[in-house]
Amino acid sequence: MKTISQLAGCGSYLPQNVVTNDDLAKKVDTTDEWIIARTGVKQRHFVADGEFTSDIALEASKRALEHAGVDGAEIDLIVVGTTTPDRTFPATAVRLQKDLGCGSGAAFDVQAVCSGFIYALSIVDSMIQTGQAKTALVVGADTLSRLINWQDRTTCVLFGDGAGAVVVKAVEVEEQSTDKAGILSTHIHSDGNLEELLYCDGGPSTTQSSGYITMVGKEVFRHAVTNLAAVVNEALEANDLHNSDIDWLVPHQANKRIIDSTVKKLKMSMDKVILTVGDHANTSAASIPLALDHGVREGLIKRGDLLLMEAMGGGLTWGAALVRW
Ligand code: UT7
Repeated sequence: MKTISQLAGCGSYLPQNVVTNDDLAKKVDTTDEWIIARTGVKQRHFVADGEFTSDIALEASKRALEHAGVDGAEIDLIVVGTTTPDRTFPATAVRLQKDLGCGSGAAFDVQAVCSGFIYALSIVDSMIQTGQAKTALVVGADTLSRLINWQDRTTCVLFGDGAGAVVVKAVEVEEQSTDKAGILSTHIHSDGNLEELLYCDGGPSTTQSSGYITMVGKEVFRHAVTNLAAVVNEALEANDLHNSDIDWLVPHQANKRIIDSTVKKLKMSMDKVILTVGDHANTSAASIPLALDHGVREGLIKRGDLLLMEAMGGGLTWGAALVRW
């Protein structure tokens, strides 16, 4: 027998406070037209004062557990992809562990910025396959509104807050089984030489504050299209699959132009892409599970569909996951 990781359910949450492009234009030198043309973003959701990453992660997690029909007490592993934890330590994941009533197991955060969900999924898949966990919660949650530099119009219009989660279960199948439901493979990469293209200029060991986002937008855009197309091809080749086998591309929702360019480079159709960036902007680690949950709840993604998830973010980090839903 062998153990595979199956996605049992998903959930997501967006804070109630919606900020449109026109709202932003009242305090920043920008326009609705510019933001839509350059990014595809129409609005974003921001947490309220006193609302934290763990709060929105909790809502998304509860919805994922309900969707999966799993009780919090069954969860023996929580991995949260986040760059905006409530506290420098402990991890946001341990707050979730307490709030969801998970009595045992392990809980920790991974910090890979916009690739955080793919990194977290990759770690969980490995831990399930090696028998270290049976029922896991993988969360992507960020409140990038806390890191926005409102003096920098090239970045402040791009980001929003949100959270998404999936429940991943260990399932035993025959060694020779061709049943490919679940996670087929994950692929993660990073290149620390490219740190200066996208970073937050604070940190506990440097400024003792969280700092603000800084980005060389055009360079990040260029690397995103190249790296995302490459890692998608890597995932397909690893599974002896072709572009045409993918039912849905569930990309990191950073910018519609990056998604358009990546899809063009991959010679895929936009009809096979789950697109939600217009409604919530770039929510960092939350964007893939937000898009996944949207696709599932809208009835676009159906059981048995082959999904390709991909993301790139600060680090630079990037990765992909091929999943049979
Ligand atoms: O997870 C990865 C996260 N990163 C990303 O998704 C970002 C990737 N980069 C991008 O998507 C694009 O580089 C941006 C959307 C950030 C910017 O688009 P761009 O086509 O690279 O614009 P630009 O920075 O070259 O600026 C073009 C013009 C400039 O004016 P001039 O010099 O041509 O007169 C900017 O000053 O647009 C101006 N501009 C703005 N105008 C209105 C820059 N930001 C704004 C703004 N509103 N918010």
